[in-house]
Amino acid sequence: MKRTILLTGFILATLVANNSFGQTTKKTTTVKKTTTVTKAAATKPSAADLVIGKQALSKSDCLACHKEDTKLVGPAYKDVAAKYPATDANVDMLVKKIIAGGSGNWGQVPMSPHPQLAAADVKKMVQYILSLK
Ligand code: HEC
Repeated sequence: MKRTILLTGFILATLVANNSFGQTTKKTTTVKKTTTVTKAAATKPSAADLVIGKQALSKSDCLACHKEDTKLVGPAYKDVAAKYPATDANVDMLVKKIIAGGSGNWGQVPMSPHPQLAAADVKKMVQYILSLK
């Protein structure tokens, strides 16, 4: 008997999940989701990219406002790395922020824009920064 109820429940849940019963049934029945471990997409930079990123940082004006371990005008790179996991979305967001400049994530002091830098180069800089954990 118990098995039949369980089985019926499973079939019902499957039907609802497939939306065969329409909206009203869907509202009243809770379908337990199976847990899938989805890791946020992250493209791992090569060791060479990290070295290029570090060199690009020192060639640009970044170090006038940033240090690795201590806050200067801008946040310490270690703090930036601690704040943002190295996902593709975070890397893209930070690349855009460095090129466009702006404030708000660390305080009211704005970072100057860097329109002269190529996104591909800034990406390596960001990957280097986020590797400082
Ligand atoms: C004129 C000073 C200045 C320069 C030059 C500068 N930054 Fe910044 N940077 C800042 C400030 C201030 C912030 C904090 C902005 C905020 O609060 O959103 C910041 C924030 C950042 C962040 C974190 C952004 C966020 O939204 O959390 C990164 C990454 C970063 N800078 C990288 C760089 C790189 C790479 C360069 C060189 C290409 C650079 N910065 C040059 C001042 C500067």
